[in-house]
Amino acid sequence: MVTVVSHPLIQHKLSLMRDTQTGVKEFRELAAELSMLLAYEAMRDLELAPHTVTTPMETGEFPMLSGKKLALVAILRAGLIMTDAIVDLVPAAKVGHLGMYRDPQTMQPVAYYNKLPADIAERRVFLTDPMLATGGSASAAIHSLKQAGAQFIKLMCILAAPEGIAVIERDHPDVDIVTAAIDSHLNDHGYIVPGLGDAGDRIYG
Ligand code: PRP
Repeated sequence: MVTVVSHPLIQHKLSLMRDTQTGVKEFRELAAELSMLLAYEAMRDLELAPHTVTTPMETGEFPMLSGKKLALVAILRAGLIMTDAIVDLVPAAKVGHLGMYRDPQTMQPVAYYNKLPADIAERRVFLTDPMLATGGSASAAIHSLKQAGAQFIKLMCILAAPEGIAVIERDHPDVDIVTAAIDSHLNDHGYIVPGLGDAGDRIYG
């Protein structure tokens, strides 16, 4: 299932990110803000259970997060800006990292780093990468997560191409996608059009 979060704040911030006039500092801030807003939607179905809380007036039962613990996993480099922001919302989440770059010639993902929480199989996983282009990187990352035992995986991205969504739906039909927008298409170099350029380069140079 693909969820496009069409909230006005998200759409506004995304349009600013697309703008070539937006500099590094603002781009990073927007990416972080958008990530938190996307997390609000992506985590909508987290389980709650009543907990006893004493307010200044009385003691009662109030909902708090329960069920599976969370893991945030970033596809390096660009996914890092998303996990760094989201972990402020869910500070008990563990954070994992999958290093992956896309070979500019073949457009195939090349894995170079894998460090996941040891108990990832027991956690709900939110995988982050701002860009879902051909889908190769995200599909390989999900494969790595599944090899490590992860069962409940949601993919969070800022921009997705129809081609990338089709690849995830084909390779991993069990994985839901949450994105701020689905753009028109990929160009011959595998860049999302109209897109926002290379997110990693705009964040890290
Ligand atoms: C970008 C992006 C995704 C990938 C998307 O990363 O952040 O990880 O490309 O492409 P795909 O869907 O076609 O696989 P990049 O390879 O530029 O690495 P970086 O984040 O380190 O800059």
